Amino acid sequence: MSLRTYLHKLESENRLARVSVPISKMYEMAGVLKQIEPQTALFETVEESAFRVAGNLFCSKAAFAGYFGIPVDEIIPTLANAIANPTPYAVVGEAPCQAAVDLAPDLNSLPILRHCEGDGGNYISSGVFIAKHPDYGQNADFHRCMQLSPTEMAVRVVRSRHFDTFLQDCKELDVAICIGNAPNVLAAAATSVAIGVDEMMIANTLEPLTMVRAKTVDVLVPAESEFVIEGTVYLNRRSAEGPFVDLTETYDTIRQEPTLVVKAITHRRDAMWHALLPGALEHKLLMGMPREPTIFKKVNEMVRCLDVNVNPGGCSWLHAIVQIDKQHEDDGRKAIEAAFAGHGSCKHVFVVDKDINIYDPLEVEWAMATRFQGDVDLVIKERAPGSSLDPSAEAGTKRTTRLGFDLTKPLHAEGKSFDRAAFPKADLAKFGLERQG
Ligand SMILES: Cc1cc2nc3c(=O)[nH]c(=O)nc-3n(C[C@H](O)[C@H](O)[C@H](O)COP(=O)(O)O)c2cc1C
Repeated sequence: MSLRTYLHKLESENRLARVSVPISKMYEMAGVLKQIEPQTALFETVEESAFRVAGNLFCSKAAFAGYFGIPVDEIIPTLANAIANPTPYAVVGEAPCQAAVDLAPDLNSLPILRHCEGDGGNYISSGVFIAKHPDYGQNADFHRCMQLSPTEMAVRVVRSRHFDTFLQDCKELDVAICIGNAPNVLAAAATSVAIGVDEMMIANTLEPLTMVRAKTVDVLVPAESEFVIEGTVYLNRRSAEGPFVDLTETYDTIRQEPTLVVKAITHRRDAMWHALLPGALEHKLLMGMPREPTIFKKVNEMVRCLDVNVNPGGCSWLHAIVQIDKQHEDDGRKAIEAAFAGHGSCKHVFVVDKDINIYDPLEVEWAMATRFQGDVDLVIKERAPGSSLDPSAEAGTKRTTRLGFDLTKPLHAEGKSFDRAAFPKADLAKFGLERQG
């Protein structure tokens, strides 16, 4: 299914808000999308651009799972299988994403949104970067881009990303930025796998994918993308990038980042931009969800792991809640170590037993209140490498204190009671009452 087929499906199920009233890409659209979140919307008339914009596409695991026709609890195994088994995609000579080819590109013609008052400029936030390295082959990941002029953008490249390695090695890199993609492409680009693995082969395992050679750069791009921006990123041509509201919903600072010079823009007929709100639910889903199978795998190598939730309350990046079937007294601690190994940016890990619903923050807190003793159940790692996204990490080094909370109950209770008491089941109908909540 392409993105537009998915939107047709949503519309046929009355789940798409079609907006024909003209709307501005400057603040207005971001404001509307945030207020209607998680409602998917298609803006048909953008004041500053001839193109349509779709937003709030995949704000929940239910929406993501719905696209693939799987239950939510199948997401982790489905992603884990695709990560473990990348498969070759088909390559075609002609593709919808190249229905129009503009070799005199003007970024002002695109509906590149300005999101928040304090942002440094208009930003592409949903762009999947595809780049090629002479030894490693193709890589796909996300990089936000701030528009500088009709043909230039500043690209945020976090150190040690594979794209960063490519750029450090090559100094100048031809890239294709693909916008308006189906969730197989989005989720695959958001995974972190071994360098040299082409993430589009992971996308192909999630759902068969067709790729086409870009027009002016030597990379393959998804044939069904709505837009492809082709150009070159220069490592040593630095531009000020930021401020920008990031995943944590706080402002990321201004940095000197590599500059992209655009050579061409190709797009589908009636192309549709993907507005992805920074820090909002869709951004969080795409960041956190692909880490869950990685954490699951690492934890499951040590103890019996049942489920993992990289939850929105933890910015879908800094926290992981891990559910285990505890067999040994030290399983909680082993799970904490394994979860940190499975997601290098994780700051706080909470390990719970199988009777705790990891999607209910009240239940996790209840486990902390009733099963946790700070002097024995807390793992502390001082001055560990932290996330570049964490505003509280040490400025400059991003060193942080990592904490692991073992919220599991002891296997042998020794006179203590840890199980939630159940009230008797009563026949409500007999009293003319209905169950609440
Ligand atoms: C919506 C979204 C936006 C992102 N923006 C950036 C970004 O601006 N810069 C960056 O370096 N990583 C960004 N990331 C994270 C990387 O794309 C992600 O960690 C990816 O898995 C790294 O790929 P790699 O393992 O091939 O290096 C973003 C991720 C998502 C889902």
